[in-house]
Amino acid sequence: MASLNAIELLREDHEKVRQLLSELSNTTNRAAKKRSELLQKIKKEVEVHAQIEEEIFYPAFRKSSAEESEKLYHEAKEEHRAVDRLVLPDLEETEPTSEEFQGRVKVLKDMIEHHAEEEEQEMFVKAQEVFSEEELEELGQRMAERKQELRKSL
Ligand SMILES: [Fe+2]
Ligand SMILES: [Fe+2]
Repeated sequence: MASLNAIELLREDHEKVRQLLSELSNTTNRAAKKRSELLQKIKKEVEVHAQIEEEIFYPAFRKSSAEESEKLYHEAKEEHRAVDRLVLPDLEETEPTSEEFQGRVKVLKDMIEHHAEEEEQEMFVKAQEVFSEEELEELGQRMAERKQELRKSL
């Protein structure tokens, strides 16, 4: 079976999360059950994705080149942390039928979209330059395997 290289795999994850986020932001205040379900799905996708990036892709990228990579690495890591520690837990404690929920979903969506766009436009572009096709394949393979493990355990 043909596998995705690292960048294809991460982009595919981004697309999936973008879709779930727009589904969530299109729900109404009455759709409590749907909102909770979508939020749990998003949380799991984001956790698995952030973890494979932090365990596998970011460290490889960081080692690959100059100062600019170091800066991108630290920015990206802190953005993961903010979503994981602040925005998602806050949203989980928010009543899904409230106006606040709607507003907090908007914040989550904006943050994740900004983060994914920066990765795609800066980090992945640079990664494409510094890694060989073989290295990208190998990183993709490792992340796909790790994703499967994490999906079972998270
Ligand atoms: Fe990320
Ligand atoms: Fe990402």
